[in-house]
Amino acid sequence: MNNCIFITGAAAGIGRETARLFASKGWFVGAADRDEAALASLESELGDDRCSTHIVDVVDETSVRQGLADFASRTGGRLRLLHNNAGILKVGPFEKINLAAHRAVVEVNVIGLMTVLHGAFPYLKATPGAQVVNMSSASAAYGIPDFASYSASKHAVRAMTEALDIEWEPHDIRVCDLMPPFVNTGMVQQNEQGSRLFERLGVNLTPDVVAAQVWAQVEQPRLHRPVSMQFRALWPIAKSAPTSLTRRVLRKLWRQ
Ligand code: NAI
Repeated sequence: MNNCIFITGAAAGIGRETARLFASKGWFVGAADRDEAALASLESELGDDRCSTHIVDVVDETSVRQGLADFASRTGGRLRLLHNNAGILKVGPFEKINLAAHRAVVEVNVIGLMTVLHGAFPYLKATPGAQVVNMSSASAAYGIPDFASYSASKHAVRAMTEALDIEWEPHDIRVCDLMPPFVNTGMVQQNEQGSRLFERLGVNLTPDVVAAQVWAQVEQPRLHRPVSMQFRALWPIAKSAPTSLTRRVLRKLWRQ
């Protein structure tokens, strides 16, 4: 089976919308998450002929490898698209968040992502035209105040994406990332104070818009460059403007 997608963090938010969208397009969806109850409700929504669910904690290598192997047993060893989406956010003044929480953000968002990439490589390699869509974030373009460890983790995702897109090209595997700004999901709803910055920037996406961007990567496989959506216009500025300018704007928005 060639049209198959494995999604981490599939039980909620962006991952769940991506699962729904790909299932509606006739793809077979492997939905991985650590939230067992939410996974069960997704499976009953999509049906077990269109979806397999896998209880996976992305920081636990054994569960990642088991989840991928179980998925591959349904797809004949194929993995056409890996949506590396599981992530967590911790918002607040850097010094007031304890180190264990900062460490968890980096572990899930960076080590977890790497663990899944490592485990998925043999299946991606075995699938012609395989693609990876990592979730970085608009905060991978800036160091956002109150998002220090999250911003750091998403910068790491950007760098992993750039490196692997080149490194895995000989294996016919394209790697890109999406860089959405504020998306209205449980992640930001639980961190209301942290979403204020993005609200001031006037951006508010729903998860189905991001899911459509994942699908767009399938339809336009040559467009495997970072996609920042509403931040796209700001991306060249962030890349080329003196950091002092970007920082001045952020400082102003943060203090409002
Ligand atoms: P969410 O909190 O709504 O959903 C995240 C899902 O990941 C949950 O189902 C959760 O159980 C799962 N998860 C968390 N840790 C896990 C782990 N260790 N192993 C397996 N599953 C785990 O979050 P949302 O908003 O859907 O975010 C998805 C991705 O998009 C994340 O990587 C996030 O950083 C990124 N993103 C989100 C934005 C937003 O504003 N919501 C903006 C930019 C990027």
